[in-house]
Amino acid sequence: MTLDAELDIERIRAETPGIPHTNHLLASGSALMPQPVIDAVIGHLQLEAEVGGYEAAADRRAELDATYDSVARLIGAQSHEIALVENATAAWCHAFYSLPLSAGDRVLTCEAEYGANYVAFLQRAKRDGIVIDVVPSTETGEMDVEALRSMIDERVALIAATWVPTNGGLVNPAAAIGAVAAEHGITYLLDGCQAVGQMPVDVAALGCHYFSATGRKFLRGPRGTGFLYVQEDHIERHEPAMIDHFAAEWTATNEYTLRTDARRFENWENAYALRVGLKAAADYALDLGLEAIQNRSWSLARRLRSNLHSIAGAEVRDIGTEQCAIVSFTVEGLDPRPTVAALRERGITIGASSPASTRLDAEARRLPTLMRAAPHCYNTEAEIDALTSALASLAPG
Ligand SMILES: Cc1ncc(COP(=O)(O)O)c(C=O)c1O
Repeated sequence: MTLDAELDIERIRAETPGIPHTNHLLASGSALMPQPVIDAVIGHLQLEAEVGGYEAAADRRAELDATYDSVARLIGAQSHEIALVENATAAWCHAFYSLPLSAGDRVLTCEAEYGANYVAFLQRAKRDGIVIDVVPSTETGEMDVEALRSMIDERVALIAATWVPTNGGLVNPAAAIGAVAAEHGITYLLDGCQAVGQMPVDVAALGCHYFSATGRKFLRGPRGTGFLYVQEDHIERHEPAMIDHFAAEWTATNEYTLRTDARRFENWENAYALRVGLKAAADYALDLGLEAIQNRSWSLARRLRSNLHSIAGAEVRDIGTEQCAIVSFTVEGLDPRPTVAALRERGITIGASSPASTRLDAEARRLPTLMRAAPHCYNTEAEIDALTSALASLAPG
């Protein structure tokens, strides 16, 4: 039995039905789901088919409600601080568009901010006149916390940062950013999309007021799931940008009363089968242990970075003093997208990441489209080496 120091890799692989089909190295895209997640989703769909959708939800009410508890446990939050939504972008937008930002209000963000978030900044700059100020990075690539501190004045209304950017291997100093936000009483919105399921998360230690995440990446949940954490004191501070009669009860002809929990950011109708899948994913990750998952996936990523140095013309494009399980690279003479397709034909799955996903960082570092590989704890050293050999055989050098 291959028993990792902390994880039973053979059991984890046996519980991952995708393993025999593909050498899947793209947990930062959409990871392979474990069997309990698949069983939960299919089981609920089956029940809906047998008794009807409303009835299935009623029969499974306790389990559905427990999804909030599992997600809360995963990030050190309380259940009433969680809203379940369809993806990380929806979660982030629910938070961002609820903030009453007006002309001249400054938003401080990082160079590696995700494209979806940045276009939302641009829309509110155009519509509401907010000012977007990008905090420079340190020499090693992280958001410069001292520069952040020095940029704060009374017009700063929001600090919004990405913890683990879409590519680049970077881990931004999310907790140190939170400490600056706390020093100045500034609202802090953290994009934790690529951190959740990859490493331990404790929202209290991070000091964020809003935290957005997705289910399908490192958490190994089903596609179409995500969640927003809203720190309890912030829940009732602002109204959601859009509400329905679930978020707010229609209490009199001309009146409504908003919910007092984070579910005010949800709608009435939901994909309940996916929700129980998200619960199973959170429980599965907690059961394995997030520290163990981090240790294993980061160590596989280190192996890949080191292997890549042996390929002529390969360049690892990662930054940061502490590098996570997302490995970005180029190989001279290999066009990323056709290379991803050629690898897929050989049973190896990685991805490509275009400059527009993190445009500021890409422009600053003159990055082309990158190849992106992201091992999870279910991957093996042999799978990493197989990717390296396949790349070497495709490379013209
Ligand atoms: C850093 C970051 N934030 C947010 C997202 C968006 O997540 P979703 O597709 O679930 O909306 C991504 C997706 O790649 C991402 O990399």
